[in-house]
Amino acid sequence: MSLTLELMNWVLDMVLQIIRELLGKVTMSSEPVNVNEFKALAERALPKMYFEFYAGGAEDEHTLKANEEAYQRITIRPRVLVDVSRIDMSTRMLGYSISSPIMVAPSGLHKLANPEGELATARAAAASNTIMILSFGSSYSVEEVAASCNAVRFFQLYVYKQRHVAANLVERAERSGYKAIVLTVDCPRMGRREADIKNRMIVSKQKNVEGLVSTEVDADGGSNLEAYVNSTLDPSLSWKDVAWLKSITKLPILLKGIITHEDARIAVEVGAAGVIVSNHGGRQLDYSPATINVVEEVVHAVKGKIPVIVDGGVRRGTDVFKALALGAQAVLVGRPILYGLAAKGEHGVKQVIQMLKEELELAMALAGCTSLKDITRSHVRTERDRCQSML
Ligand SMILES: Cc1cc2nc3c(=O)[nH]c(=O)nc-3n(C[C@H](O)[C@H](O)[C@H](O)COP(=O)(O)O)c2cc1C
Repeated sequence: MSLTLELMNWVLDMVLQIIRELLGKVTMSSEPVNVNEFKALAERALPKMYFEFYAGGAEDEHTLKANEEAYQRITIRPRVLVDVSRIDMSTRMLGYSISSPIMVAPSGLHKLANPEGELATARAAAASNTIMILSFGSSYSVEEVAASCNAVRFFQLYVYKQRHVAANLVERAERSGYKAIVLTVDCPRMGRREADIKNRMIVSKQKNVEGLVSTEVDADGGSNLEAYVNSTLDPSLSWKDVAWLKSITKLPILLKGIITHEDARIAVEVGAAGVIVSNHGGRQLDYSPATINVVEEVVHAVKGKIPVIVDGGVRRGTDVFKALALGAQAVLVGRPILYGLAAKGEHGVKQVIQMLKEELELAMALAGCTSLKDITRSHVRTERDRCQSML
């Protein structure tokens, strides 16, 4: 009799455990607890072609993976017994105050993730009191995004062979209240994104250039996005064109895609207002280095004359902490914003930014830093540090 009772109890326990696990899975899938979990949610929410357009990188995707992995090889050296009852994450970028050093990277075609597209992203960035860099390839126009809400925003520029397009966009961005131009310099041609080629990724009409150039392109069996970009972008863009850009706008110009000390020095010489250490999230030159590994090289080259921002693989507050310890003033976040948008619209983007901010705040508290200026080089140990200490 008691054996039967024990057996029944055991079966009941097992059933309850299975139910708990199932419930746990359901809860986990709908309520992400960190930024990485938004990726799976986005994959579920999006058609394969769109998810892979967002998630993919160039060729072997070595750089794509390296961006994230490189952060994992840097450790944090915390200081203890510091009064961390108040933490201040606020900072300034080109004179504009933001609530934390976490900004929104430019990325194209937000409407693939959500019908509200960049309007939702812009509202989420504004509510988070941070700066969004609107992509040249946005689904909503420069003007529509500007009208969506009041906020400090920058505009990212690609330069087409027809130079009047860039001139037109810069003039419209300036008129619409954007506060800086972010010239992307790592894209004379589009990187080979094999997922897009396989999926025959189709580019929707480029909203910002409507009426300025024809957007009809023959894909020739591959990705029409690749064909379109390669037929429009100006591969002759060079350093002298920064002077041209400066001559057509009063806005400060940041250069996005600088990953060597040589180019960082020239960027200062030509009067850039800032540099963004970026390999385009591993979407351009595969086997270019993980960005966090070259931040210091760029920081040393610019000698504090202009701000250094870094992007690529930032997925944790501790990543932001590490980037700042290595000398960056701020980070940009790319894919997680798109995943947040795909999973939960405007609210999802807000959540992504909020999670990173909360994690950064916690990392600062646990490492004994009460403000961003307290985060110093001695708070991190890189692979290079470890190698040097062995010599
Ligand atoms: C889907 C997608 C579209 C992008 N579009 C642009 C763009 O239009 N202009 C640009 O300068 N960078 C673009 N980027 C690169 C991002 O600005 C940023 O450098 C990169 O996403 C950072 O890496 P992360 O995604 O690992 O955070 C794009 C990135 C992605 C993932």
